[in-house]
Amino acid sequence: MLPSAVRPDCAVAVASGVHWIGALDPDLRSFDIILRTANGTSYNAYAVRGSAGVAIIDTVKASYAESFFRRLESVAGYDEITTIVLNHLEPDHSGALPELLRRAPAATLYVSHQARPMLKGLFDPAEFEHRIVAVGTGDTADLGDRQLEFINTPYLHWPDTQCTWLAATGTLFSGDFLGCHYCDPRLFNDAVGDFRFSFEYYYAHIMRPFRAHVREALDLIEPLPLRTIAPGHGPILRDDPRDYVRRYRALSAPSLHGADSKTLLVFYISAYGATRRMAEAVAAGAEQVGDVRVSLYDIEGSEPQPFVDLIEEADALLFGSPTINGDAVKPVWDLLSSLTMVDVKGKLGAAFGSYGWSGEAVPMIEDRLRRLKLRVPVAGVKARLEPTGDEFAACRELGRQTALHLLGRAEHRVVDMASLT
Ligand code: FEO
Repeated sequence: MLPSAVRPDCAVAVASGVHWIGALDPDLRSFDIILRTANGTSYNAYAVRGSAGVAIIDTVKASYAESFFRRLESVAGYDEITTIVLNHLEPDHSGALPELLRRAPAATLYVSHQARPMLKGLFDPAEFEHRIVAVGTGDTADLGDRQLEFINTPYLHWPDTQCTWLAATGTLFSGDFLGCHYCDPRLFNDAVGDFRFSFEYYYAHIMRPFRAHVREALDLIEPLPLRTIAPGHGPILRDDPRDYVRRYRALSAPSLHGADSKTLLVFYISAYGATRRMAEAVAAGAEQVGDVRVSLYDIEGSEPQPFVDLIEEADALLFGSPTINGDAVKPVWDLLSSLTMVDVKGKLGAAFGSYGWSGEAVPMIEDRLRRLKLRVPVAGVKARLEPTGDEFAACRELGRQTALHLLGRAEHRVVDMASLT
């Protein structure tokens, strides 16, 4: 049995006048269906006492509401609560919110401007309408001798997310940001087990698709004199909290050397070599343009993950697949399905491939790319069995035109009307 900072129905002191009143969920093995949680998770919520009232920051998943209320009651009465802050609306943080609003009738609820219209998904806003205040960066909630200051940090990982700063103790209540799914009753980062893998896994699956927003949030957080980061999940970071901020900075930073030039990646898989030769032609066409860094990869030779790392920093993605049984082949779909881990919106995409008798792979890949919000400005190229000279030329043109689009130098297509009849 691990030693524990957490006792049933008791709050845990985090800083002067700040208590953890959350819940532990050690048996959870997947979160939001897709995240693996080998060590369970915690739903962290906090009580902050000031001379003029008590603030509750975040709540817990609905099924843990009763233990949350008992912990809350160990440090505050409901009639003392003047302020409720919800840093993020997802149900793992808002599950006990409606009941908390009923039990603390004098409290005002502070949420981000983005969260305000989303509240109707949690409860009938009419019930609490007059008690809701939307806030942005620099707005405050007054607790008398101390203030909570709001920092708008959207898309970490929902549009509504924000952080809350308590300067009096140097505590940042960061919501999902800088958190992880790692349940340990010792609660603090200097006391729990080694949770580095959970921290990085959480970043990779929750924050990584929004890394531009991560960097914007870090710009706001790094200047703060941090003494403790109190996230919505996982250990409370009181020992060297800035180290975790530095880690997020490193994880979210571009890492490709010479990244000033545009980058174009050509992925292919080939049964008999025809799609490979098409890929080589596509890459050669792109290379002709100059000023674009072109890479060619046979996806038969790798798991998707290393390619996903490359894709995150690339500007154009071209996929070559044969058509087998009316479909693109599984390694291509495996790679395409991995792209939800990174932000690909607005990148350029294209498809090509050899086929035997139907050739569905190219339009299917193009459709998938569009649904992932890539732009597909150049029509794909299909070739029946071994490509002809004209089809290789079309492949080179596919690469060249895509590269030109990347550089903003795309040539206007001249349509021969006669060819349309
Ligand atoms: Fe912890 Fe996005 O909820």
